[in-house]
Amino acid sequence: MWKKAFVGALLALTVGFFYHTDPELPERLLQYLAQPPPSPEGAPSTPTIEQMISSAWEALITAPARQWSRVAVGVNACVDVVVSGVGLLQALAVDPGVGRDHEVLHSKEDLKATFIHYMERGAAAERFFSDKETFQRIARAAAEYPGAQLYVGGNAALIGQKLAGYPQLMVLLCGPVGPKLHELLDDQIVVPPESLQETDEFHLILEYKAGEQWGPTRAPQANRFIFSHDMANGEMSTLETFVASLEDFRPDLVVLSGLHMMEGQGRELWEERLKEAVVAISDVRNEVPIHLELASMTDKDYMNSIMQEVIPIVNSIGLNEQELLFLSQAGSGPHSELASWDGVPDVGRVSDILLWVLEQHGRADPGSEADLTRIHFHTLAYHILATVDGYWGNQVSAVAAGARVAGSQACGLQSIDTAKVALRAPREFHSSYSEPRETLSLDPTEPVTVYRRGNVTFYLTPVLVCKQPLRTVGLGDAISAEGLLYSEILQQQ
Ligand SMILES: *[C@@H]1O[C@H](CO)[C@@H](O)[C@H](O)[C@H]1NC(C)=O
Repeated sequence: MWKKAFVGALLALTVGFFYHTDPELPERLLQYLAQPPPSPEGAPSTPTIEQMISSAWEALITAPARQWSRVAVGVNACVDVVVSGVGLLQALAVDPGVGRDHEVLHSKEDLKATFIHYMERGAAAERFFSDKETFQRIARAAAEYPGAQLYVGGNAALIGQKLAGYPQLMVLLCGPVGPKLHELLDDQIVVPPESLQETDEFHLILEYKAGEQWGPTRAPQANRFIFSHDMANGEMSTLETFVASLEDFRPDLVVLSGLHMMEGQGRELWEERLKEAVVAISDVRNEVPIHLELASMTDKDYMNSIMQEVIPIVNSIGLNEQELLFLSQAGSGPHSELASWDGVPDVGRVSDILLWVLEQHGRADPGSEADLTRIHFHTLAYHILATVDGYWGNQVSAVAAGARVAGSQACGLQSIDTAKVALRAPREFHSSYSEPRETLSLDPTEPVTVYRRGNVTFYLTPVLVCKQPLRTVGLGDAISAEGLLYSEILQQQ
């Protein structure tokens, strides 16, 4: 403090001195002072709003009083193989041709036609490849293709990887883990032997660039075509193994994901399998808190079944703006008439839906049978952690830590570089969409805004959005993992 005062006094003297000798100078001197300091010892410059938020987070984020020591994560896991689409098809000795969409891919020819169909539109798509042997051959060719990049994939594996970054934490991962995935996983992750399998579940991600040409086909923009023959994740085949391994592992937190994978298997399978999943999850409940990570779904009936049967028996969920709106649409909740969000999702509308989920399917009313008391909502520009009062602690740190990891990981960095991120969140917003509502604002020196509605408290923090993101796959998983690490569950009397 004294140092700043001293520099200030010195400046005043200097400016005063020059003013007397050369009236032009103070202007130039002040301009000079407005620039970044020439050295660490230089005069203090005004921090940007991003710098203010980032340093305020550092001061705010503290570990919870009671930290988790053992976390069990399941059950979707795979290897993402990112490769040039045209390059791979050429390596498979496929010639260019005309595009034609296929709902399910049965052969290399179907793959080619469907890939071309989407490439010439520059549109993203994801398909199931039905023939196991052919798929294995293509997957091997893709994994060995020069420049192919192999990554850990699947929400459970990605959450496990993030948690394994904390050496004091024991992490159990259950899912279809093949030899390649096992190799890619952090050494600290424990995989129960029953969940190891001989072959990996490869998800092939065929990329193409804007303007890329193959025969008569030209891509108007860059995008990706994804396909797999993933039966294990589609059926959540390791769910029972996961639940069985909890008895030995004795986790203090369970993280579950992969329910969305069953949707593609058709109604008959998911109706049956969801019932079994509910039984399995019910075996875990009461003993340890369960966090459910949601992911993109398209079938309203399936979403509705998850909302009715699964959400009330878990303690916490994590989701993004599309999943939140779809939840409301599936259950005719608030703002379900919206077809999609227009730009940055309105904080008031988001809060309305979060409150509705916790009141209709959670424990906002202490008389309710439901267990859900926590929702970690993330969208590009801001995050909200909404908790029913009395069940969770350290929410300010948890929501800030989740936002901090979003800003650093998207840029491929370990910590936030304030020159590479930008604030995109609204500076002023409301606690609900309609009256009565509270007008709230973002304070960069106190960047977690807290507001209450009913028995629920909302903690909102902006994201410092990476201006040139490197890889955004798994960002939601990292946000939820980080938020959980800084959260604690309060003991109930
Ligand atoms: C909030 O909690 C009180 C009891 O603490 C309960 O009477 C009330 O119904 C709850 N409100 C809602 C909206 O569930």
